[in-house]
Parts: sequence; C-alpha cells; structure tokens
Amino acid sequence: SEIRDDMDHHVIYFGNIFHSISFNESQEILDGFIAVEDGKIIAIGNKTEFEAWNYANKDTFKKINLTDTQFLIPGFVDSHIHAPQVPNIGLGLDKPLLDWLNTYTFPLETQYKDKNFAKQVYEKVVQRTLSSGTTTAAYFATIHKDSCKILADVANEKGQRAFIGKVAMNQYSPDTYVEELEQSLTDNEELINYIKDLKSDLITPIITPRFAISCSMEMMKKLAELARIHNLPIQSHISENVDEIKFTLELFSGHSNYAEVYDTAGLLTNRTIMAHAVHLENEEIELFAKRGTSVSHCPNSNTNLRSGLCDVKRLIAGGVKVGLGSDISGGNRISILDAMRAALDVSHHLNFMKKQNVLGTGQVVENKEKNAEYEPLDYKQALFLATLGGAQALSVSDVTGNFQIGKSFDALLIDTYEGTVDEFDLPKVLTENLSEHDKFEKLLQKFVYTGDDRNIIEVFVKGRQVKTK
Ligand code: GUN
Ligand code: FE
Repeated sequence: SEIRDDMDHHVIYFGNIFHSISFNESQEILDGFIAVEDGKIIAIGNKTEFEAWNYANKDTFKKINLTDTQFLIPGFVDSHIHAPQVPNIGLGLDKPLLDWLNTYTFPLETQYKDKNFAKQVYEKVVQRTLSSGTTTAAYFATIHKDSCKILADVANEKGQRAFIGKVAMNQYSPDTYVEELEQSLTDNEELINYIKDLKSDLITPIITPRFAISCSMEMMKKLAELARIHNLPIQSHISENVDEIKFTLELFSGHSNYAEVYDTAGLLTNRTIMAHAVHLENEEIELFAKRGTSVSHCPNSNTNLRSGLCDVKRLIAGGVKVGLGSDISGGNRISILDAMRAALDVSHHLNFMKKQNVLGTGQVVENKEKNAEYEPLDYKQALFLATLGGAQALSVSDVTGNFQIGKSFDALLIDTYEGTVDEFDLPKVLTENLSEHDKFEKLLQKFVYTGDDRNIIEVFVKGRQVKTK
C-alpha cells in the first residue's frame, strides 16, 4: 500500500469533476483540475484556480486531460459485503433470512477452513469489486482466521482499502461452523496482530460479531472489550427481519428492543456500523444517533430476502450516518452502482406506499397521513450514500469519500462514451443548446441510472490505478 515505483508521484487530472459535500450538497467542477502528490489530493479547483495555484513544482507533474465524455468521481464504498458468499451470488434467494442462512450460507462459509479455496475466491472478489469501482470495502469473512489473513493479504496486494472482519459466532450455528468463545478471541487477536504487522494503511481489522442470535452476551461483551483495547471499528447486523428480531428478544430477555441488546454488550460505539436496520423503532434510532453508530443500507438484499423496505431518510433525519452495502450474497449485485439504484427503487416504493393504502382488493385509496408527503431520494443523494456517506459510516471520511484537499486520491475515471450500452446514446441527449452544466448533469444521471463497470475505465486508490480488465 506504500507508494509504489509503478505509479506516478505527481499527476494533475484536467476535466470535469463531481463529488459530494454532504447528503444534500455536492460540488460540480467543469473543466477543473485535481493535483495528486504521492496518492494525496493537494489541490482542486476550476481553471482560474489552477492558474492561481502557487506550487513550485507545478511543471513537473504528469498531466492527464479527460475527454468531454469523461469525468472523475470519488471511489465507491461498499460498507457491507460478505466476501465468502460471492460464489452464492444469484443462488438460493427463495427463503427469508434465518432459513436462508442455514440452508445456503453457513454450508458455503464452512468451506473456508480450506485456505486454497479461500485464496481462489478472495482473489476474484477483490479484483471484481475493484473493477466495479469499490475502492473501500467492509468485509465480513468467516470464522477461520487463516482465511481472514488471506483476504487481508489479497486486498493489500491489489490495493483496496479494506476492513477485514473475522466473523464471531458461538451459538445457534451448525456444529461444523461454530467456535468456542476463548478460541474466537485468541484467533481474533492473532488476526489483529497479523494485520498490524502488514503495516498497511489500507487494511484495518474490524470486530465482527455475526449478529446477536449467533453470539452469547458474554461473547459480545468480550468483543466490545477487544474493540476498545485495540481501538477498532465494529460491524454486525441489526433488525433485518421480523423473525430475527423476535428470536433475538426471546434469547436476550429483559431488553425492550434489539439495539438495547447490543448496547448492553457495549457494541454500539461511534465506530460501529450495523447492516440493514430495516425495522428500527424510534428509540433505537435515537440510541444510534446518541452513540454515533451508523447504518449500512442494503436495499438489494432487503428485497431479495424479503426483509422489508428500509427508510433511510428516516434514519438520516434521526441523525444516523448511512452508507450503502451490497450485502453479497443476500444481495445479488456486487456493484455499488446497483446498490444506488436499489436504494432509489426502495425509496420510490416507500413514497407510493406512504401515499397510498393498497387494499387487499387491489383498490387504491389516498393516505391522508402527514408522512404521505414522503420525498424520495434523488440520484445525487444516492451518490452521496455510495461515497462520502459510506466513508462517514465507516469513520474514514478523514481519508476518503470525496476530493477534499489532504484526502487520499480514491477515485473513478468514468467514461460515458457512445455505444457502451445501448441505452446510453449520449450524443443524442446532448443537444447543442444545452449549457455545459446541463450536459454534465445528464451525463452523470445517465451514468448513475444506466452505467456499469465498462464505464468505470480506471479506479484509483491512494493514486494507484487498481482496475484490471
Ligand atoms: N445476518 C446474520 N448473518 C447474515 C448474513 O450472512 N447475511 C445477511 N444478509 N444477514 C445476516
Ligand atoms: Fe450481511
């Protein structure tokens, strides 16, 4: 992850640039520049600002000019992905969560006790996520420490910013895929030290209790302590499915809601990210906001596993940080572009669910409630969730997520050239009467709604080009 000999130390990109500043604010720089020194952004601005930019070695930079169908955006953040589940993508989506885990997911994850199998899969996972534009990924691996080390090595070598989570589970799991508490902790410590020894600023261990059902309260408390001692982030799942919530509250009696179970364990910190959060109650949202705990919104998975429609605008309004997750293989699409589109779909579905009461007869009546005025997400907000929102949710917005000076150059070079996909046909859209701003917005919107990894022609993490064809 250090600056390699095979990359340029000083580069300036000239062209159109777009990035998010917050959920509702973005910056579009037409005909602008970004200067990158040893993988870090040292200047950004428009043409006038480039002329005014006072930098002694300005002329020594390699200069790259983008074409008018190209632009730069920040790299995507997948804030929730199960690397070992990739071979199951597109399979076994006929059951809700708990049956799905037992029938399809646990049997596959058990196989990662075989390091060769792990290596084979993880090489492809990192390569594929990078090529899809995922510059930062929060990975759930499996319970097997050696395979976790392989995932850390692979992400480090291929140059992805990655959180590596050794999954912890000591109850309500198959006999072949479960661990003893002490062993789990020892293995976790070993992995944490292994990753520390990599001395990579890209790779971070993340404490990963699978979810409350598969962890005893003692295990969750010990894991929270481990996170505290090593100053590490935490990831898990919460309130994905109504049967899961019911069973959790049966197992951990005396708690009035799911979030309280994790809070008792000390797992809700300002570096904790919880996936799904589809069915959170108001008190739970308040608790998340109070603790600084964030949510990974996984709309594709929530639809596939029939978990529910997660209202991210409610979470954001409640002061909770939100990012997007592919949740492979509950999700069947590895690209964060697809996560954005799924988030937009779900938000629109919520919009008309709230406007209409659909009766069993198929008859539709207007909903007179206040929340009927639900404003769905727009594509720029979806882009925020896919980039800066994810970086904030994973507490890495000081290094990535947008093009602020001082951050790492984690970026995607997008090309919306004609013929990439049939529906693209951009030159037909870009009539001569449009302003440069209007043309750019159309390109960007086309990319969000119809683009794929063919349009992501280069991917940079810390300035290093990491996409392989
Ligand atoms: N809850 C506990 N484990 C999992 C998992 O692997 N995938 C999803 N979607 N939810 C979970
Ligand atoms: Fe998950």
